[in-house]
Order: sequence, then structure tokens, then C-alpha cells
Amino acid sequence: MVKICCIGAGYVGGPTMAVIALKCPEVQVAVVDIAAPRINAWNSDHLPIYEPGLEEVVKECRGKNLFFSTDVEKHVAEADIVFVSVNTPTKTQGLGAGKAADLTYWESAARMIADVSKSDKIVVEKSTVPVKTAEAIEKILTHNRKGINFTILSNPEFLAEGTAIKDLFNPDRVLIGGRETPEGAKAIKALKDVYAHWVPEDRILCTNLWSAELSKLAANAFLAQRISSVNAMSALCEATGADVSQVSHAIGTDSRIGPKFLSSSVGFGGSCFQKDILNLVYICECNGLPEVANYWKQVIRVNDYQKTRFVNRVVASMFNTVSGKKVAILGFAFKKDTGDTRETPAIDVCKGLLGDKARLSIYDPQVTEEQIKKDLSMNKFDWDHPAHLQPTSPNSIVKTVSVVWDAYEATKDAHAVCILTEWEEFRKLDYQKMFDNMQKPAFIFDGRNVVDVDSLRKIGFIVYSIGKPLDSWLKDMPAVA
Ligand SMILES: NC(=O)c1ccc[n+]([C@@H]2O[C@H](COP(=O)([O-])OP(=O)(O)OC[C@H]3O[C@@H](n4cnc5c(N)ncnc54)[C@H](O)[C@@H]3O)[C@@H](O)[C@H]2O)c1
Repeated sequence: MVKICCIGAGYVGGPTMAVIALKCPEVQVAVVDIAAPRINAWNSDHLPIYEPGLEEVVKECRGKNLFFSTDVEKHVAEADIVFVSVNTPTKTQGLGAGKAADLTYWESAARMIADVSKSDKIVVEKSTVPVKTAEAIEKILTHNRKGINFTILSNPEFLAEGTAIKDLFNPDRVLIGGRETPEGAKAIKALKDVYAHWVPEDRILCTNLWSAELSKLAANAFLAQRISSVNAMSALCEATGADVSQVSHAIGTDSRIGPKFLSSSVGFGGSCFQKDILNLVYICECNGLPEVANYWKQVIRVNDYQKTRFVNRVVASMFNTVSGKKVAILGFAFKKDTGDTRETPAIDVCKGLLGDKARLSIYDPQVTEEQIKKDLSMNKFDWDHPAHLQPTSPNSIVKTVSVVWDAYEATKDAHAVCILTEWEEFRKLDYQKMFDNMQKPAFIFDGRNVVDVDSLRKIGFIVYSIGKPLDSWLKDMPAVA
């Protein structure tokens, strides 16, 4: 029986291994983590992450051929294939701070694998890592190996949060990178055999190690670049009177461009895009390619510009001050259908408004008060580090923030509403009722283009919707970053 062990029971390790267990009943899968609360949650009725369809898959396999455990060393020692799916945050200190990947967690996992192994193993990079990480890991493993053979593969994960199970069941492609040696080819075949249980062979792409590592960074950079491109257009639309939705539709019907990932918004978020592009930028700089580095850096700059531009619109429209004014924030998660707030644009928008002394009342259907307050107190990039390195008590800025469990409560007596996540329920709110209970003039700033601008203007709102023709009220208000 093939034994698989995955180090890291997070958003990637948990769902990926659950699907492997479901599709390969004769393979034994153990998911291990140093975080006991996370493992306990995986073994309970309340899984640590929400993904549509995940619970059914876990319930089907758990206890049969899928196990969650904190006994990292035992399961690693027994495994034939070890996936490493630990977090790879952006470095916050030292060389490459703010750009390079922090491989502390990866390195300690590799050293532990070398320490406890008593049989040959295939070690699979599942985490997103800088190009040539495999080479470094290989060195750690071979210098500590005690006669054991380790073969390293890169198998980056392309699932998207919110659709992880669907993506894993039916992936556009599975990518496996390995050394171009007989051992490398043998290891690639062993991993390919696992995926071939349910993925058509022509969708399993095999490359060399570096191509696989770089392809993951490149894919995220291209996806984020589309968002920054359409967001850059949104600023021009506002300046000219064009409508960004119409422009997106018009360009998306070109089959060479395609319609996906062309929605304008307050900016992209999530745990990966910014981190992976910063990583790419750092690698380009280290390889003496400043022009390439600057090209990709611009994708992040436009994203930051979009968030700042949004805050400036809010403040400029409201007579250049939001000091002491109540601003309702609808939506805090980085996208709909998830409670994940890692790198959500809402953090920067809220911090921007708090910087101008606004009072915030925040409502998100999936994010807890504790999480929101933690996010608003944390320094950039700290979220991807262990809990003991994060602030325990919210700082003073958070005193002007309240978190409520209802959109009408959030907007009561508010001067303005900012919509920052595209939750379906925000399309169906009773905006007349909301308007009646707000201060006047009542403003709506739609950072996700979810509201019907014309009907809201009829109610009496002053409406700003990203990339749409401006309200006459806003036309002369400068809002450049
Ligand atoms: N979240 C996504 O949508 C997504 C998609 C594709 C790729 N990725 C990449 O996958 C990797 C993991 O991401 P994630 O979102 O699952 O992270 P996560 O933070 O949810 O999970 C990582 C887990 O690894 C554990 N861990 C760290 N060091 C360990 C060690 N030495 N031994 C055992 N466990 C250890 C942590 O306790 C944590 O539970 C990252 O590199 C990320 O960039 C993420």
C-alpha cells in the first residue's frame, strides 16, 4: 500500500489530501501539522476551513484512508511520498525583507524529514516557493541523509479558495516538475500514477523542476496582472466617462483575451497574489533583471493605487474630511464565499479611513469581530506567521471600530457606506430603508460594482461605483493617489 504524508494541514494541504484519499482508496493518506488546534478541528465536526463540498469528502474518507495527526515524525517516517504544504510568508526582517519568501517553515520541515527517515522517499513541494528552492531542499536532504535516497518533485497547487474541491476534482492541469534523471523520471511517474486515478493523462503536465516552480509564480502574476490592468482602465473610465463594465465586456469577447478575471474592483487580495509577485520581483532582481522586476512590481503598485484611490474618493467626496463620521463597511473577506481575510483590500481601505479619523461600523456575513480587529491591528505580512508572533490585544486604533452582525445596523446613522466584498446579499438589500436611516447627504461607495447605480441615485444616494461614469457631485472632487 502506498503511503502519503502531507506536512501542513492548511487551506491547501487539507482539501488536496482529502481529494487524493477519496479518489485513491488503496492509498493511505496522513495529514500532519504542528498546530494541535488545527488538527483537532480536522478531526471534529467543525473543520478549520470552509470550502463548499469539503465536509462531505472528509466525512467519506476520515478514519478509513485519511488521517489527521500531530504525530508529524511518525507519519513522515512511514511515508513513501511526503508532500510539504507549509506556509511560505514574505520575509519581514533581514535580507529581502518585504519581498523574499521566508522559507523558515519549509527548511525546518526538510530537516525533520532528513532526521526521521529510514526508507527512500519522494519529497513533493506543494507550497508555492521561489525558483530553485527544490535545489536548496535537495541539499538539506542529501547532506543529512544517512544513506537514504530522496527524490524531490515540484507539484504546485492551482486551486482557488471558495472553489477548491471543484478545482481539485476537475483541474485545468496538474503540474509535476522533476529532475531529468532516471530517478527523477521514476518519481514523476509515481506521482503521476496517483493523479491519474481521476485526472485525464493529457492534463498532467511534466516539466523540469525549475519550470514547475516558476509556472506557479507566473500563473499568479498573470492573473493578478489582469486585475490590475482592468483596474488601471477603471481610473481612465472615471476620467473620461466610459463605463468599465462595458469596456471589460467588449474586450473579453475577443477570444484571444477571454472574459474571466476582468471585473474591476477596489483591488485584489488573498494570501497568494501579492506574496507570489513580490517573490517573482525579488528573484528577477537577484538575477540582474531590474526591467523585468519593475514590470511585475507595477502590478502591485496599481493594486495599491486602486485602494488608495478608493479611500481618497471617499474622503474627497465627503468635504475632504471623514473625521468623527460614521462610515459603514459592508464586506471584509477578500472575496465572496469565504471567510478568509488574508491581504483583503478591506484592511487597507479601513486603515486609510481610520487614518482620517473615521468611525467604522463593519459587517461581513462570514468574518468574526475577533478576526477583523486582529487584522486591523497587525503589521503588513505578519498574518502568515504563527499566532505567538502576532499581536494579542487590539491596539488603540481599533477603539473607533465596531463590528456588527447586520447590514442595517452597520449603516444606521452612517454618513457613508463602502461595499468592499461582492457578497450576493448586498445586491438584495433594502436600500430605501438604509437611506431613510442614514445622515444626509448619504453616500455609497461601491468597491465591487454590486449595486444598481441608477436606482440608488433615484432614492437619493450620491453613488460612486468603480470605473462607472461619475455622479455630478463627484466630478470636480480630485481623488488621485
Ligand atoms: N491558500 C491558497 O489558496 C493557496 C493556493 C495555492 C498554493 N498555496 C500555497 O500553499 C502553501 C500553503 O498555503 P496554505 O494557505 O495552505 O497555508 P496555511 O497557513 O493555511 O497552512 C500551512 C500549515 O503548515 C503548518 N506548518 C508550518 N510549519 C510546519 C512544520 N514544520 N511541520 C508541520 N506543520 C507545519 C502550519 O501550522 C499551518 O497549519 C503556501 O506556500 C501557499 O502560497 C496556497
